[in-house]
Amino acid sequence: MTRDRRSYYLTTPIYYVNDVPHLGTAYTTLAADVMARYRRMCGHDVLFLTGLDEHGQKIEQAATAAGYSPQQWVDKLAPAFQETWQMLHISNDRFIRTTSVQHKHSVQELARRLLDSGDIYRGSYEGWYCVPDEAYWNQKDLADQDKALSSDSQPLCPDCGRPLKYVVEENWFFRLSHYADFLLQYYEDNPQAVQPETRRNEVLSFIRSGLHDLSISRANVAWGIPLPWTEEGDAPQTMYVWFDALINYITAVGFGTDDDSCAEEFAYRWPAQVHFVGKDIIRFHCIIWPAMLHAAGLPLPRQVFAHGHLLVKGEKMSKSKGNAKTPAELVERFGVDGYRYYFMRDVAFGQDGSISDEAMVQRFNGDLANDWGNLVSRLFSMVGKYCAGKVPAYGGDPTTEGAEGAVLRQVADDLYDRVADAYSRFDYSGALNAIWDLVRAANRYLEDSAPWTLAKNAEDDQTQADALAQVLYSALEAVRIIALYTAPVMPSTSDEVCARLGLAPATTEIDLQRKTQWGQLPAGNEVRKGEPLFLRMEA
Ligand code: MSP
Repeated sequence: MTRDRRSYYLTTPIYYVNDVPHLGTAYTTLAADVMARYRRMCGHDVLFLTGLDEHGQKIEQAATAAGYSPQQWVDKLAPAFQETWQMLHISNDRFIRTTSVQHKHSVQELARRLLDSGDIYRGSYEGWYCVPDEAYWNQKDLADQDKALSSDSQPLCPDCGRPLKYVVEENWFFRLSHYADFLLQYYEDNPQAVQPETRRNEVLSFIRSGLHDLSISRANVAWGIPLPWTEEGDAPQTMYVWFDALINYITAVGFGTDDDSCAEEFAYRWPAQVHFVGKDIIRFHCIIWPAMLHAAGLPLPRQVFAHGHLLVKGEKMSKSKGNAKTPAELVERFGVDGYRYYFMRDVAFGQDGSISDEAMVQRFNGDLANDWGNLVSRLFSMVGKYCAGKVPAYGGDPTTEGAEGAVLRQVADDLYDRVADAYSRFDYSGALNAIWDLVRAANRYLEDSAPWTLAKNAEDDQTQADALAQVLYSALEAVRIIALYTAPVMPSTSDEVCARLGLAPATTEIDLQRKTQWGQLPAGNEVRKGEPLFLRMEA
């Protein structure tokens, strides 16, 4: 295994398999994919994990209702996720399913460690449970709701609004309450560990309000990983599905086996650089998960970044609200890259964002068809007309490029730092906006330097011929650089632009900083005009 580059291990939540992915679930995966691609292009040794959360009561119930065994049910539904990710050009390196044997070992190993350290004890749970969210709610959480709290009236889940169930059972508890001070101190010392800031504050105030021990096994749910111990006379229990699910992040990098190469990989990959999650699941990721890891003597993930929700007419997109769309419907209209661009550009990552058909068409026509697509097609056709379809000879000598050319080059030269800064803050929209400064500058440059006028006299006038070569070279160089910078968001388009310039695919670059320096486009390369990259569409 190569260990000469820095590990960048990033994850998405593992999705409940009882449904096909909708735009909301695909959003987390897409954002993680763009980050994975960007980091690979910067030379990091990326490991990008996604997968499926296949156990628990909700899946058990869905399987039974559909007339399947839970295993048949998850096997039947799992391919829809893999197909969707392929369709969206998601570049995950691994795909974990919590029904795998390796994961079972990993969960049981972690549970045993926590039992041995005295962090797990026997107790009895009595309280409310949300099956769709697989979450416990205590009286304090429900107090704000102003609801009757008897076992026959049914209060609603404070998160998803669906009716809660009253649960009374003997099971096993994790001493979460012991870790409140540790977590507060940890987040104080590591302010970047939960981002954005609003989510960090939310986590801190939740911890300050007091943590309760957490029931980590279920007595009446058969569909789960068996608790690795049973006391005499006890019926077998299964692990609470969130306890099981969170552990996927370490299973996938080798935790829980005796194999030496797994142990080596675990030491290299863990802790993860970042867990991408939606804001609805931060308590699990920023309270329960770090406490479990710390109790087991394992390091904590470097960062959890929580994004907001996609809203349709002001409401969270979800299957239960009946407003969920599948990615396929949009990919059919906008293409994969049009889809990817819209969600990364139009929704501020970290905040809730409204999405609409109108906004999508507007972005597509304005930014992609007009700005980027048009730049490429008119430039490449001029190169065909005026330079016999070849990159004109021009070494990028700054002294000969003229004032407008110098401005264009400056925009390109400033871009690496601006883009790096935006990505370091998970500001995808900001990164694209910075890149679009170069797209716009290149279009303006063509307008201002009017190659079509230079071409009129180029045959008889060497100065005009040189000026024409410079202008087209500079504009082509800008296009090459834009293709590299946009590759994490629009990989196919970037690879296509590079192919038309006679270059290696943008997505295979691993030294973005060096490759985006001005003046590397080889003179004499064939430039192929090709079809328009994006066809304008009707609203
Ligand atoms: N299985 C758990 C996660 C376990 S991770 C150890 C789960 N699964 S989920 O399928 O319900 O949702 C996963 C992700 O989808 C969450 O990050 C959630 O925020 C995201 N989204 C679901 N609907 C969404 C929107 N409408 N908008 C944006 N993201 C949303 O929770």
